[in-house]
Amino acid sequence: MATILAIESSCDEMSVAILRDQKELLANVVASQIDIHKQYGGVVPEIASRKHVECVSAVLREALQTAGIAVDEIDAIAATKGPGLVGSLHVGMQEAKTLAIALHKPLIGVHHIAGHIYANAIENTIHYPCLALVVSGGHTELVYMASEFQFEVIGQTFDDAIGEAYDKVGRVLHLPYPGGPVIDKMAHAGKHSYKLPVPLDDGSYNFSFSGLKSAVINLNHKYEQRGETINMDDLACSFQDVAVEALSSKALKAAHDLKVKEIIVAGGVSANKGLREKMANSDIPVIFPPMKYCTDNAAMIASAASVMYKYKKFSPLDISVKPDYDL
Ligand code: KG4
Ligand code: ZN
Repeated sequence: MATILAIESSCDEMSVAILRDQKELLANVVASQIDIHKQYGGVVPEIASRKHVECVSAVLREALQTAGIAVDEIDAIAATKGPGLVGSLHVGMQEAKTLAIALHKPLIGVHHIAGHIYANAIENTIHYPCLALVVSGGHTELVYMASEFQFEVIGQTFDDAIGEAYDKVGRVLHLPYPGGPVIDKMAHAGKHSYKLPVPLDDGSYNFSFSGLKSAVINLNHKYEQRGETINMDDLACSFQDVAVEALSSKALKAAHDLKVKEIIVAGGVSANKGLREKMANSDIPVIFPPMKYCTDNAAMIASAASVMYKYKKFSPLDISVKPDYDL
């Protein structure tokens, strides 16, 4: 196995991790910009990349100090190649290239979603064939994995990603950014009392969340126009119930159809308590990543890179980032 230094900078987090033999996490430093982007109600790409430039060296130094290892103990340098915001990706990849050249180590360009999926391999062992339910701010996908590092996207969202739907609902309800964790918390204080449309159920493995999102926004608007107050906790609970039912039912259907050994959940929305509770007693084992690896972090990139290192999937030094990289 190997010791990997990985950098993740695809959106508004700059993170550097050092992972030994895929299981021993020596450092995972995450510098979040949430407090800055909060003021704008969402991530401002130009600000995100500029802030990454300002903090990348300090985050790298802190990770090396925390790990307490000499740089010659590092076997490879990894960075997120895409998908993500182009300027943000460039900062991490440029730093990784510089380190790879200076330390004479191989460079590994990692797919961000492969990272989210392999966040599940740090403290667990993945059993194949499996099905990954990918639920993040930019993606909602069902990915069939016949064996290690084989990805086949069998379903995806036609419109909003689930995290995007949470965040857009949060913005309209004037909740702090990002809306996902706030709505999750409110949902647990409320009850499912508002009737909302159930998202697409056409027998496929695809998803659609824009109808549900618009229904929540329209219902809130109707109450505002009438001068009545809607129960926000109940609205959050009604939205979350319908959303997690759509995710879990499709994932379970696909898992049965494809006879997988387990379902692994990946991406920021895997932190959602409603989804965790809903899938806890499924008739197929469902694995969630530990909370600390749910949202963007470099440990997950290092974990995916550990597998790529094993198969010698190295990248040339003139590798370019790919904002719309396919899995
Ligand atoms: O994976 P991630 O950190 O970034 C992307 O790759 O997109 O996911 C961020 C998304 C945001 O939309 C955020 O609102 C959502 O994950 N999220 C949650 C929860 N925690 C984070 N959504 C619902 N419930 C949560 N507890
Ligand atoms: Zn992510």
